[in-house]
Amino acid sequence: MANPAFENIGACVFDAYGTLFDFNAAANRFRDDLGGKADKLNEIWRMKQLQYTWLRSLMGAHVDFWTLTGEALDYALEAVEINDPALRDRLMKAYLTLDAYPEVPGLLKALQARGIKTAILSNGEPKMLKAAVDGAGLSDLLDATLSVEEVGIYKPHSSTYQLAVDRLSVPANRISFQSANSWDAAGAAHFGFRVAWCNRFGQGREHLPAQPDAEITSLDQLLPIVGAA
Ligand code: LAC
Repeated sequence: MANPAFENIGACVFDAYGTLFDFNAAANRFRDDLGGKADKLNEIWRMKQLQYTWLRSLMGAHVDFWTLTGEALDYALEAVEINDPALRDRLMKAYLTLDAYPEVPGLLKALQARGIKTAILSNGEPKMLKAAVDGAGLSDLLDATLSVEEVGIYKPHSSTYQLAVDRLSVPANRISFQSANSWDAAGAAHFGFRVAWCNRFGQGREHLPAQPDAEITSLDQLLPIVGAA
């Protein structure tokens, strides 16, 4: 049944990493090379990557997400005591060839067929996003791929979410935003989007000033919520 919060949705906007694209599967490719350190490395890498987005935004010291992801990886490799520049290079390149979660192409097609615009809004820098979108065969299924590089600050700064409003010409209250990141879902709700938090990883609910309008565990639960089933 359609959720009343999501009435008259004109666009569905998606976070990229962890929401549309499965970064854990990419890192799992290196399990053998990492000798039992894969999970710890992954966890520290992702945690530092996010922390650095927030810290650099507060410092007013923006660098693009590719550079920042490399800096977070350097922290993580040091933490698990791996010194292997070739492996570092391969881990970074994994970001360019990510699989989309299996339900993603069908969902995007179904939304477009119902006249709902589809877009990515991501911290990822444009080349990273293009590689992921092309690699997963999603380029025809997205009306826009928006990178925070255009505004030079990371989510959840309001100017990042405003980018979707401006570029899609759809008001915030007619945009349904989907993210697997609880903090991004909170930020988008605070901005004024309708938000479906795709809680793939069983995260806890944030105690922040705004809450998502719906919680799902996979994007295949989205169509009925936006009244497009
Ligand atoms: C992104 C990160 C936050 O794609 O997953 O913006």
